[in-house]
Amino acid sequence: MQIELKSPFDAHLHLRDGAMLETTVPASAEQFAGAIVMPNLQPPLTDRHTIDSYRARIEAIGGESFAPAMTLFLTPSHTPADIEALKGVISAVKLSPAGSTTHSEKGLHDLVNNHSFMAVLEAMEAMDLPLCVHGETGDFVLDREAAFAPTYRALARRFPKLRIVMEHLGSRALLPLLDEQPNLYATVTLHHLLLDLDALLGGMLRPECFCKPVIKTPADREALQKVVLDAHPKIFFGSDSAPHPQADKARGAAGIFSAPVVLPALAGFFEQHDALDRMQPFLSDRARDFYRLDLPDRTVRLKKDPWRVPVSYGGVTPLFSGERLIWRVVDGA
Ligand code: NCD
Ligand code: ZN
Repeated sequence: MQIELKSPFDAHLHLRDGAMLETTVPASAEQFAGAIVMPNLQPPLTDRHTIDSYRARIEAIGGESFAPAMTLFLTPSHTPADIEALKGVISAVKLSPAGSTTHSEKGLHDLVNNHSFMAVLEAMEAMDLPLCVHGETGDFVLDREAAFAPTYRALARRFPKLRIVMEHLGSRALLPLLDEQPNLYATVTLHHLLLDLDALLGGMLRPECFCKPVIKTPADREALQKVVLDAHPKIFFGSDSAPHPQADKARGAAGIFSAPVVLPALAGFFEQHDALDRMQPFLSDRARDFYRLDLPDRTVRLKKDPWRVPVSYGGVTPLFSGERLIWRVVDGA
């Protein structure tokens, strides 16, 4: 038995920089034909020069079979002209409200009443450039996504032609927005789909399962599974794979390094639900249409050949570290 995927695409990926690229780029390029690459480096990617040179560093390792689609980290000082000048350079703009997650300090504070932000969104709407949002407020940690719903709704209504992605959706409270607002879409991660708080807190604390937004309740996980298995047309895969060195994890850094296990673990999930035919649209077609991507033409094959996930990749503990997975990527050419 074999699974074949045409040009799988990861619509939300943190590759980091420097020496870590030697680990992260091959881990994703083995399984994916490309990715929406997140801009929250230190300092973040806020202009054309830093975006272009970062892209070149990724391409130097990933080669032609992995296409990085770049994003801009939106700060309060960006103007509509800045965004217009990036036409053809970026595939999306990333909004990480200040304080919401790792390296978001330079992000925006006030959203809906922020005039310069509104002007930027107006320009993006005219350019048909998608906005990717880390939708969390400063409320109680498990309520942060749900509490962001009014902001999503307000932005979607005010800019009806702006396509907005609710990134790494983890709360079932946000799901109705997909059907309510035509211009709202969502990415779903491997970890929010398969895990709930028990994985993080139910036994020994497992830092490799800690991320923002935090994985939530069984009811949230089941609701996400349902919409993914029902092939919701506005949901596509984005891993939010976000590695941190073990020392940073020990200090509590949020981010799950899932890249090495994504396709094998998802194959297990879809097989278990007798839904292997849903993988292709979830893992490539819908994101490709949404971002209008011209991806490298690749066929990635998986077969049943159990393997044990290494405990470390270049000093980073992966999701499912040391666990046995049934499916294995055998050919990504
Ligand atoms: C991400 C990171 O480490 O860059 N962390 C995370 O917990 N998901 C940032 C993000 O996407 O929120
Ligand atoms: Zn992320």
